[in-house]
Amino acid sequence: MALTSELGKQIKLKEVEGTLLQSATVDNWSQIQSFEAKPDDLLICTYPKAGTTWIQEIVDMIEQNGDVEKCQRAIIQHRHPFIEWARPPQPSARNAKDCMVSYYHFQRMNHMLPDPGTWEEYFETFINGKVVWGSWFDHVKGWWEMKDRHQILFLFYEDIKRDPKHEIRKVMHFMGKNLDETVLDKIVQETSFEKMKENPMTNRSTVSKSIMDQSISSFMRKGTVGDWKNHFTVAQNERFDEIYRKKMEGTSINFCMEL
Ligand code: A3P
Repeated sequence: MALTSELGKQIKLKEVEGTLLQSATVDNWSQIQSFEAKPDDLLICTYPKAGTTWIQEIVDMIEQNGDVEKCQRAIIQHRHPFIEWARPPQPSARNAKDCMVSYYHFQRMNHMLPDPGTWEEYFETFINGKVVWGSWFDHVKGWWEMKDRHQILFLFYEDIKRDPKHEIRKVMHFMGKNLDETVLDKIVQETSFEKMKENPMTNRSTVSKSIMDQSISSFMRKGTVGDWKNHFTVAQNERFDEIYRKKMEGTSINFCMEL
């Protein structure tokens, strides 16, 4: 869904079922809920800053290099299921601490989103799920619990970072494509952080400075695992781990916190 607002103005937000969303989304809620996916649509269901652009680029490249006759439509959603899908959703998750850091810097540079305030203030906002598109915990837990009951490919940012070819191959199989090793190698190269940072199609350099001010922080910022260590104080880390234990109790999900 496009962010619709006047240039340079912050988007208006409204709460739906405890989740902050842009009001344009909330105002079209019934239309969104009655959205019908086509049988071969691919839904990319990421929490913001979990690598949405990365996955989208991987899917696009697999599509471009695959069978032209069978083009799939890829749709992105950040909110935990509000669309009834007909076929494969593809959620991707990134460890909560790196997500928080990435989202904080994104809100600093993206003038359409609320000013995040200080890091200390943002820490509270994030753990309370008061960020746009809602709580990281609800999103990740929700999709993780659903993954065995539906045709879902659950990917981790950290796995793609560690072994991109292996994860890209999984996406390829999930999409029902079969590409040569040389094509896969090309996709690995073209979707590397360095390449995507230089690519105007993915680095958002075409977006006006009044919307995204990349002199504050780049859209393609660091692309690493473990940057949270440069932001969390020891006390914040202990508090976060405690909250995480409580909120994620009973789930079997495991995140890699550094590579
Ligand atoms: P950082 O802010 O930690 O650098 P989204 O697309 O969901 O908004 O996610 C953005 C995050 O994914 C940013 O994280 C960005 O740098 C990272 N990212 C985007 N493309 C990437 C790539 N090819 N490799 C690694 N990280 C990537």
